[in-house]
Order: sequence, then structure tokens, then C-alpha cells
Amino acid sequence: DGDVYRYYADREWKKSSSGKAVAIINPTTRKTQYKVQACTQEEVNKAMESAKAAQKSWAKTPLWKRAELLHKAAAILKEHKAPIAECLVKEIAKPAKDAVTEVVRSGDLVSYTAEEGVRVLGEGKFLVSDSFPGNERTKYCLTSKIPLGVILAIPPFNYPVNLAVSKIAPALIAGNSLVLKPPTQGAVSALHMVHCFHLAGFPKGLISCVTGKGSEIGDFLTMHPGVNCISFTGGDTGIAISKKAGMIPLQMELGGKDACIVLEDADLDLVASNIIKGGFSYSGQRCTAVKIVLVMESVADALVEKVKAKIAKLTVGPPEDDCDITPVVSESSANFIEGLVKDAKEKGATFCQDYKRDGNLIWPLLLDDVRPDMRIAWEEPFGPVLPVIRINSIEEGIHHCNASNFGLQGCVFTKDVNKAILISDAMETGTVQINSAPARGPDHFPFQGLKDSGIGSQGVTNSINMMTKIKSTVINLP
Ligand code: G3H
Repeated sequence: DGDVYRYYADREWKKSSSGKAVAIINPTTRKTQYKVQACTQEEVNKAMESAKAAQKSWAKTPLWKRAELLHKAAAILKEHKAPIAECLVKEIAKPAKDAVTEVVRSGDLVSYTAEEGVRVLGEGKFLVSDSFPGNERTKYCLTSKIPLGVILAIPPFNYPVNLAVSKIAPALIAGNSLVLKPPTQGAVSALHMVHCFHLAGFPKGLISCVTGKGSEIGDFLTMHPGVNCISFTGGDTGIAISKKAGMIPLQMELGGKDACIVLEDADLDLVASNIIKGGFSYSGQRCTAVKIVLVMESVADALVEKVKAKIAKLTVGPPEDDCDITPVVSESSANFIEGLVKDAKEKGATFCQDYKRDGNLIWPLLLDDVRPDMRIAWEEPFGPVLPVIRINSIEEGIHHCNASNFGLQGCVFTKDVNKAILISDAMETGTVQINSAPARGPDHFPFQGLKDSGIGSQGVTNSINMMTKIKSTVINLP
């Protein structure tokens, strides 16, 4: 079909009967880079039916065979790292090297999940009745983990491959089938990744990838009666999905406003390099990016100077050149970031660099002396702009962190481990990193957000467990 990428269902690459396409705009050139099919609700229904049918026999496929296919897909994915990375560069302006890393990490995640699955799912429990008061030893209970059915996976634009496989691999190893709705920016990378699973030889209907506008098929997918579990990563949409979804397990990873609390005894060079890595890698477009620095006043000047010096060394430009700072994903995102910057300017923040923007490219910016009345103190820019609030006590830092409606991760820098642990306990976030920037990986670590940052816990083992249900069989003795 010329230049419109086909969607994937029933082991076939298909054209949508809508005759419509969705354009994917290259964030750097701001021109149409690719087009994907705008799938119809009927096509979604068809994919759901196939997924339901395929799941039945997949659940009966021996666990080791399911693992074998996943290992195969992982190897193929790694072999295809160059073309997939190229799509990531064009669709989401991910710096070239990071794009390759995303694909390799995804292959590793798939293999690890296969390994972990054979262990976690290969075991059940055996219980006896006489441990509970009033019971004789007349009942034996055998438990195993059974699949949920059809998993709907919705990854975000910032990791269209990695955050897709972090849902696909646990779903499949556990005996589920899967319908993937990739983000528009990142859809072609995702289709290419799905192609690797196709080449590995997964059965017909087990995996589908439907493309289209969220506004047209989003609700239809998430409210579809054929869906038995939703795994979503993204923004506020997740809150809306949670409200509308039926009585099914949800795994949600939404935004974050990860705080970096810096105490007086912190190693400021270490802090500065982690602020750069945490705040500016992929231009701040990570849910786990450092999104606010809360630094003790006495070391604030020194820290700001060190961060400024490092920002001056960041390269700014196209992702093809592997620049540190690349264009943000869309014009609307750039406009939103600019709105936060303007608000901070009006309210008196100190600009450590001049604000500069060219199209979707925004130069890295550190805003000092940010106060709680500024929007940037609370909202996530998802861009290369980082606010600094100077604090006079640890309590003030913890208070700011906990006043946020987000609670994904946070980090604390100090040489006093005891203090760090007490601060970690006090921070209402899913994870606290001591002396390092927030990050999801390694991918087998538990990963979860409190409050508006999510539902459930991810990480390989948790995702496998989440996509299963316990089934008991009780043997009643005479
Ligand atoms: O954007 C959200 C991701 O889950 C963050 O992953 O910490 O590996 O960048 P990351």
C-alpha cells in the first residue's frame, strides 16, 4: 500500500478498511515521516476475537516452548536493532545511541522474562487444611498460576519498543494473548518490533498490533469487553482509562515529578552529574526524570554552578548526530514547556541560561529560585527544563515532595546512610534512590508509582504475576 505501514493481525500485515492513515510527524523536521493505518472499531473487534481464540491453545502450550519462542524473538529483536533504532530516531527524535540501547535492553528484557517465567510459573503451592482452627487434615489445596486471557498493552511514545515488550513478554510467557496499541509517535518502531515476534513464529492471532488515533479507537479498546487486563504507560489518559475500565486488573504507570533532595554533606560532583543524567537525558522526556531539585540553601550556589558548567557542555541538535538534547516529541509539547517557562519568568525565577527554542528543539534550561507558586514547581514539563527550589530543612524538602499528586520515584544525596533511609521512608514515592538519579532499571527491579503515578507494580517478576490469577484445586479426603 505504497507508503502506509500496515497493521498486524492474524499473522498478516493488513490494510485498514477505513482507507485512512495517521501521519507520524518527525519531531526534528516537523514533516510527515511515516504513515500508519487508522484501524476501525470493526478491525479492533476482529483482533480481540482472534486474541481470545489464540489464547486458549497458547495457554496449553508447554511453558518451556513459550519461553523458547520468546528467546527467539529476543535474539531477532537484537539482530534488528539498527533499523528499529533508525525508526526511533525519526519518529521520536531519540538520540541515535540511546535508540540502539532501547532495542538491546528490550531484547534482554524479553529473554530475562522468559527465564523468570519458567521459574515463577513453574511453581505452585500445596496447602493442608489442619493449620486453620477447627479443621482436620482432610483437605489438600493445590495452587497454580493461570493466565488472565487477553492483555491490552498501551505503551507511551518515549519507549515505544521497550515499554511495549515489558508488557508483551510477561503477558505471553504467562499464557495470555496480546493486543498492542502503540503510540502514534513510535508506531512504526513498534510495528517493526512486532515483526520480530512474527519472525520468531508465534501462533496466529496471539499478537496483534492495531494502529490509529487514540481519540478514535482508544476508548473502544480500553472499554472492550474482550479485554481481561490493561497494562498502560503514559500520562493523564491513564486516570481516565482507570475510571472507565471494567472489573479487570490494571497496571498503570503514569507521570512523575521526581524530586532530587540534596543535603549539605552530599558529594556535589556526584549530584551534578546525576542531575544532568537524570534531568536531561532524552531531553527530560522520561517519567523517571529528575523533575525538581530541592537543595539545602548552604550548598545551593555551589551545586547550581556545577550543574551550569555541565549544561554548557551538552550538545543540542538532531538525534541523528547523537546530540544530548534533541527536539521534543511534538509542537504541542514544546508549547506546553514554553508555557511553564513563561510562567516561571513572570513569577521571578532565576534563569541560569537564556531560554532558547527553535521549532521543537528547546535548549537545556536550569531555573533557580523557583517558588511553590510557580507551575513548574508541580507540573512535569517532559522537556529539558529543570527547576531548583532552595530549602532550609530536610522537612521542607520532604514536604514539597509529598505535596505533589505524583509519587513515582525520588532521590536523596547524602553521605549519611541512616539519614537517607529515614528520608526514603518519609518520601511518598514508589522508589527512592540513594545517591543516584531515579531510573526504572535494571528491569527486574520492582517499579511502581504511588498516588497519581500509577496502579500496581511493574518489573519483570511483578508483571508476570500481575498477568496471572491463582487457581486452586482442593482435594477433599473422606
Ligand atoms: O518513561 C518512563 C520509563 O518507565 C522510565 O524508564 O527510567 O529507564 O528511563 P527509565
